[in-house]
Amino acid sequence: MDTTLKFSALLLLMVLVSVLVNASTFNNDFGHCERVVQKWASSSLEQKVKEDKHTLRDLLFFLHVPRTGGRTYFHCFLKKLYSSSLECPRSYDKLRFDPHKQRCRLLVTHDDYSMMSKLPSERTSVVTILRDPVDRVFSTYEFSVEVAARFLVHPNLTSATQMAGRLRAKTKGVSTLDIWPWKYLVPWMREDLFARRDDRKLKGLNNVMGGDPYNMEEMVMPLHEYIYDPIARDIVHNGATFQVAGLTNNSYTEEAHAVRHCVQRHKVLGEHVLKVAKKRLDNMLYVGLTEEHRESATMFANVVGSQVISQLRSSNSSMENAADNKLEQSSSFSDSNPNDDDHQNSSSDQKASDTVTSENAEAVKGNMTAGELMESYEVCISSLRKAQSHRRTSSLRRISPANFTKEARHQVPEVVLQQIRSLNHLDLELYKYAQDIFANQNGRTILEFHSTERWKSIFNKSHEFALWQVLSLGMTIVLFLFVFIVFVNARRTTLKIKI
Ligand SMILES: *[C@@H]1O[C@H](CO)[C@@H](O)[C@H](O)[C@H]1NC(C)=O
Ligand SMILES: *[C@@H]1O[C@H](CO)[C@@H](O)[C@H](O)[C@H]1NC(C)=O
Ligand SMILES: *[C@@H]1O[C@H](CO)[C@@H](O)[C@H](O)[C@H]1NC(C)=O
Ligand SMILES: *[C@@H]1O[C@H](CO)[C@@H](O)[C@H](O)[C@H]1NC(C)=O
Ligand SMILES: *[C@@H]1O[C@H](CO)[C@@H](O)[C@H](O)[C@H]1NC(C)=O
Ligand SMILES: *[C@@H]1O[C@H](CO)[C@@H](O)[C@H](O)[C@H]1NC(C)=O
Repeated sequence: MDTTLKFSALLLLMVLVSVLVNASTFNNDFGHCERVVQKWASSSLEQKVKEDKHTLRDLLFFLHVPRTGGRTYFHCFLKKLYSSSLECPRSYDKLRFDPHKQRCRLLVTHDDYSMMSKLPSERTSVVTILRDPVDRVFSTYEFSVEVAARFLVHPNLTSATQMAGRLRAKTKGVSTLDIWPWKYLVPWMREDLFARRDDRKLKGLNNVMGGDPYNMEEMVMPLHEYIYDPIARDIVHNGATFQVAGLTNNSYTEEAHAVRHCVQRHKVLGEHVLKVAKKRLDNMLYVGLTEEHRESATMFANVVGSQVISQLRSSNSSMENAADNKLEQSSSFSDSNPNDDDHQNSSSDQKASDTVTSENAEAVKGNMTAGELMESYEVCISSLRKAQSHRRTSSLRRISPANFTKEARHQVPEVVLQQIRSLNHLDLELYKYAQDIFANQNGRTILEFHSTERWKSIFNKSHEFALWQVLSLGMTIVLFLFVFIVFVNARRTTLKIKI
């Protein structure tokens, strides 16, 4: 009796000590983390505010958050605006600036905001598109599986990976497997798909019953497992916030990884990151929303497209006497990255950039209006989407009966959705903020667009210039302002109520 009492007292003491030690290491870690995150945040917030963020600068940086639909903007807007000679060179996964190519005007990449440390930041305009975080996680999961499933034509994993390596060496292009975050997510899913296939063979499982494609463990890693894997935690969740803050797993800044890990361990520290990310969005030339696709694209054509057209047209005519300019540019670009291990053969780019004067893309040559640019965009996306959906169908056939459809998404249990929301709490807040920015931006462009169109038509037909036209224009503007203010106010109140 005596000994058991002693023993339990000892046990209690040990438990107490271990709890205390744990608590104190937690406190130590929290204190340490708080200092690390605060230091980073205050130095990031220090950067001076850009006056005139609405004007396009020399370099356009498209901060492409994965699975937000940025690819269609790249192919259907930017490729029509900028010739490939104006595109900044990309190497395999990390972009390295090639000091020989000083005149590039466009950079589209999954690299995060820390990329700005390599760019002439005062002469760079940043644009981005954000998406509802839950949909973004779904899409990331589906795309990882889709790309990985293409490898199932191979008899085994070894031959699949070998083949992928050979293919990449041969094509020399940039493949999905070279690009962050897919270079981590796809091999992970690929390995998993092969393991599940081998398992089915072993068990003699030939017919898998249909059902919830997001929870079909015989075929694919279930979604609820995927979201809790350390890789998804490191790369997928709060991915938009980390990318805008410059803190992804792929960041260029040294302290980024410590800051990110601290924020992942201590939820409250996320506030500092959000503050930085919001300010970055505030300073961007354009923020689009995947959900508001038509409005976003129209705004892009009006805000970005039309400025690119006039900028490139005027730079073409003044190219000859721009020698001074060029000199200044080369000096600021060359201090960007001394120790680069560039894999890219840039001689062809260099040649192309020498002939830049006569080589503008079609939209610029044709001096398209924003409306015309939008028309050509619509045609372009419909063919792009067709190709994408064809590829997706043929790839998902390999993991049939699992098939990711809109209807199936609605069947995913609320618990899982709630988990995704909780894992992406920073992205949820940033997305709300982006929606506000978008509403403001949209109100402004509608106003500007309509008023300039009206004035033009009035001056063109000056012989029928009449007082009522001015009056009706005035009324339209007042009406727009009124609707806009009511809208913004309504939005604010609903936001407050939600909080
Ligand atoms: C994988 O498949 C290739 C090609 O069929 C074959 O040569 C190789 O032996 C296989 N490897 C294993 C470990 O089964
Ligand atoms: C990024 O994430 C991948 C997958 O989790 C990991 O293998 C890699 O080491 C990470 N890189 C950094 C710099 O944290
Ligand atoms: C780059 O390409 C040129 C021809 O296009 C070739 O002569 C040269 O050897 C290449 N350099 C490298 C490093 O691959
Ligand atoms: C650019 O200028 C050259 C001559 O200076 C001209 O031939 C060419 O058509 C111009 N391109 C555009 C897009 O205006
Ligand atoms: C291009 O279009 C704009 C607006 O439509 C017009 O003001 C400008 O004069 C045009 N430029 C040329 C060179 O046609
Ligand atoms: C998956 O669903 C889509 C849309 O319902 C359909 O077009 C496609 O054929 C299906 N794929 C497979 C492999 O069943």
